[in-house]
Amino acid sequence: MELTFPDGFLWGAATSAYQIEGAWDEDGKGESIWDRFVRQPYRVRSGHTGDVACDHYHRMEADVALMARLGLPWYSFTLSWTRIQPAGAGKPNPKGLDFYDRLVDTLLAHGIQPKATLYHWDLPQALQERGGWPVRETADRFADYARIVFDRLADRVQMWATLNEPWVAAFLGYGYGIHAPGISSAQAAYQSAHHLLLAHAKAVQVFREGNYGGEIGIILNLNHLLPAGDTPADRDATARVYAETHRLFLDPLIHGRYPEDLFTWLGSQAPRRAADDLSLIHGTLDYLGINHYNTDTVAFDLHGGWLKARLTPYAAPGWGYTTMGWGINPPGLRAELHDLRDHYGNPPLLITENGCALPDEPDDKGFVADWGRVAFLQAHLREAHAALQEGVNLRGYFVWSLLDNFEWERGYHQRFGLVRVDFDTLQRIPKQSAFWYRDVIRRHGIVF
Ligand code: NOJ
Repeated sequence: MELTFPDGFLWGAATSAYQIEGAWDEDGKGESIWDRFVRQPYRVRSGHTGDVACDHYHRMEADVALMARLGLPWYSFTLSWTRIQPAGAGKPNPKGLDFYDRLVDTLLAHGIQPKATLYHWDLPQALQERGGWPVRETADRFADYARIVFDRLADRVQMWATLNEPWVAAFLGYGYGIHAPGISSAQAAYQSAHHLLLAHAKAVQVFREGNYGGEIGIILNLNHLLPAGDTPADRDATARVYAETHRLFLDPLIHGRYPEDLFTWLGSQAPRRAADDLSLIHGTLDYLGINHYNTDTVAFDLHGGWLKARLTPYAAPGWGYTTMGWGINPPGLRAELHDLRDHYGNPPLLITENGCALPDEPDDKGFVADWGRVAFLQAHLREAHAALQEGVNLRGYFVWSLLDNFEWERGYHQRFGLVRVDFDTLQRIPKQSAFWYRDVIRRHGIVF
């Protein structure tokens, strides 16, 4: 059977700056919260750092040539704020901007369309020293940074995202202390989430008032949630987790309102907001990017933190768990797409990340026959195709990730790439899934 995607559907692969670039202190780059965090004991498994990562900063031309050989029409990358503004404010560092300028030109010269994200968690350490995302001024600094980037690249980049996964930046960074800057405070997390939304809105305002052309959106991590049992307590717990992960962002952006029921539950932990914030945030999406990986069940749990909820990975029958411990449930993607169609006005959507980390045993030539990843991607594309038939306004799909890379607090122990990276030699070896994806792109669909 063959499923063909609509004309104009975008195909791509994604990476992020800190996870692949390396060159953490070269050419005037400043320190980010991740540069600081990875040097603290017990923050990252095996003490891994992004100091070298995939060394993409020095291998960019070869990496783009590889993308071209793999037939990628689109590439989604993120920019390191501290390459461009080493201290998060003030005059730009020309060498930092030059790097992204060259990347964009190299992509275009190979016929690959660039999609750029301004922020993927690597806040300038200098701004963290002034309080970081819990401080409102950080949103203004972000808008200044956005203007610098648009001025330089928006003549060639037509597809922008402001923030990648603000829930993760706020809650893993400031709520659970798992990511940089390693702070554990519900109040700080919620305040950060609100300021991240403000930062997004202010950057979109700069973009629209500057008439740069092109489209701008935000990228949210929307994984699927199911109540663990058919009880009011489990359903309410699921609703609270959904409110924190989905409605906290989608409601202000799309409906122009906050999830007040969640804020009532949180009491004094709820974020402080100024009177005009909602009207600034409302309606600031040309498209919505969604990163989707997995499904969890949610149970009421008296000891389950501020939401009193316990999450357990859920795998659909016949599927298992990735090396991240995440449950594979392809229909969860379709359910998320339906939810956006039915409750958020069916906005233009891009699946900006989807993929899986697997054991990836290489043969003696370093080749990985990752049929498990092929099965994962194919099953999710079938669900995406079904959703399209059902009227979901889906415009494109990006695999996470082009390359194996630095998986945050899990270091290099998780491999998500279409391309294997040998972290001793930094050699790149496309996996089976890369060739499979090249064929998907060529035929603009899947066969199974
Ligand atoms: C989402 C994040 O944007 C990315 O940085 C991460 O590597 C993948 N998910 C996999 O966890």
